Amino acid sequence: MPHRPHVIDQMISAKAIAARIEELARFIEAEFKGTDKLTVIGLLRGSFVFIADLVRELELPVEVDFIEASSYGDGMESSREVRILKDLRGEIQGRDVLLVEDIVDTGFTLHHVIHMLKARAPAKLRTIALLDKPTRREIDLKADWIGFEIPDEFVVGYGIDFAQRNRDLPYIGKVRFTGEEG
Ligand code: IMP
Ligand code: MG
Repeated sequence: MPHRPHVIDQMISAKAIAARIEELARFIEAEFKGTDKLTVIGLLRGSFVFIADLVRELELPVEVDFIEASSYGDGMESSREVRILKDLRGEIQGRDVLLVEDIVDTGFTLHHVIHMLKARAPAKLRTIALLDKPTRREIDLKADWIGFEIPDEFVVGYGIDFAQRNRDLPYIGKVRFTGEEG
């Protein structure tokens, strides 16, 4: 994607994210209480920072696995066609599963991955997304837990990219364009 001049305005601070993850971890612990067969699955690549913080906050024994699905390419619009680029390493049949996503936007990615994981007969499957853009939804679905509901803005940081950049920001920021493509 060609570079387009932009600035990033902070939307959710690192501190606010950390505080919210503490709350979310308590809900997840209650839901999976007593389990010794929980696999936390991160949807690459956007969830890598969130899952790292989340599993360190969770007081549950967990295994961690990853799956990579692609719907955006390097653009800013969903292609609505979800491809699995990298599958899980482990089996989830009979296991408890927590699927971790960065953002639910149109809903196509989460819908597709949930469908695929359910076919493998996990004992329990729950979903969590750090961010939710409900006004953008095209498929009727909601993650079981949401970090923050946000308006229809393109965001970056805390693992989330714009054309592969800005994943390293410690906060969530919104992209504001300041000029034309150059
Ligand atoms: P969906 O299939 O339309 O729900 O798209 C979900 C995926 O699109 C997320 O996993 C993100 O990777 C990507 N995405 C959606 N909104 C944004 C955004 O504001 N910034 C960066 N990536 C986004
Ligand atoms: Mg993603």
